[in-house]
Amino acid sequence: YLEQSLRPKTLTQYIGQTKVKENLKVFIEAAKLRNEPLDHVLFYGPPGLGKTTLAAIIANEMGVNIRTTSGPAIERPGDLAAILSALEPGDVLFIDEIHRLHRSIEEVLYPAMEDFCLDIVIGKGETARSVRLDLPPFTLVGATTRIGLLTAPLRDRFGVLSRLEYYNEEQLADIVDRTAELLQIGMDRTAALEIGRRSRGTPRIANRLLRRVRDFAQVLGYEKISEENAVESLERLQVDKLGLDHIDHKLLLGIVEKFQGGPVGVDTISATIGEESHTIEDVYEPYLLQIGFLQRTPRGRLVTPAVYQHFQMEVPKK
Ligand code: ADE
Repeated sequence: YLEQSLRPKTLTQYIGQTKVKENLKVFIEAAKLRNEPLDHVLFYGPPGLGKTTLAAIIANEMGVNIRTTSGPAIERPGDLAAILSALEPGDVLFIDEIHRLHRSIEEVLYPAMEDFCLDIVIGKGETARSVRLDLPPFTLVGATTRIGLLTAPLRDRFGVLSRLEYYNEEQLADIVDRTAELLQIGMDRTAALEIGRRSRGTPRIANRLLRRVRDFAQVLGYEKISEENAVESLERLQVDKLGLDHIDHKLLLGIVEKFQGGPVGVDTISATIGEESHTIEDVYEPYLLQIGFLQRTPRGRLVTPAVYQHFQMEVPKK
C-alpha cells in the first residue's frame, strides 16, 4: 500500500518522459472536451520506467476507474469477456505484458476495441450461433516490454503508441528527492544524484536503492544522508559506479571470459550464468545496449571495448 501511495497520481506530479506526458495531456483534454473515452494507448519500453503508473494516471485524470490485469492472467476468452462486461462507461482496462495474450483471446479483444462489442458463440455444432453483445465504451491501456512480439492487428488497434525512454540522472535524482520527502528521509541533493547515477535510467531501481540506502543510514545512525553515506551503502550493495549489479557483471564477464568477448547466443549466455533468457533480454540487455556495453549481431551478443575498460582489463587485439 505504501508503494501505491508513493506513485504520482497526476501528470503534473510525474517526473520525466516529457514528450509522452505533453502528448497525453493533449489527448486527455481533447477526449474530455468531446465527452468521449480516451483512445486506446499502448506503452512500451524496458521494465520499471512507469508504464503502470501512467495507466493509473490516465484513469485518474479522466476521472474513471481502472481495472488491472495481465496477458498471462487471462487464460480463456471467457476470462476476458467477464472483465470487459463488468466495465463501466469510460473505464480504463490496463493489460500488462499484453504481448503474452493468447491469440484466441486477442480475437475477443479486436471487436471490443474497435466497436465496443463482444461476439459470443452460443451452442455447439449445427445449432451454434453468434450473438453480439454491446460493451460500454472503454479505454484499453496496454503495456509491453516487447513491442516486436505484438501481432500487427493488435498493435494497429491502438490509437496512441508511446515509447518510454530511460531517465537521465537529474530526473532520477528528482524522483529520489520526491520519494525521500514522502518517506521523510533527510538527504543531500548530491546523495540523490549519486543514487540517480547508479539506477540504470530506471525509477523503480532508484526507489529501491533509496530504501536500501535508508536502511544503512538508519542502522548506522545517520540523520541526513550525505553523498559519502550514499556511496558507501551503494558499494556495500555491490552496485557499481554505472549502476551495474552482480548479474550485469556475471553476464559481461561471462561473455569475456568464456566466449572471448562473443559473439555468443543469448541461450548460451543464459545456460552459462543461470539467468532466464527472457530476463536477460527484457531486463539486463536493454540497458547494456543503451550504454554501448553490448552489441547485437546476427551471430549473437558481443561485448565492446568499453566493457574491458570498465573492468580495467586489457582490450584484446582481434
Ligand atoms: N516514482 C516513480 N517514477 C516516478 C516518476 N516518473 N515521477 C514521479 N515519481 C515517480
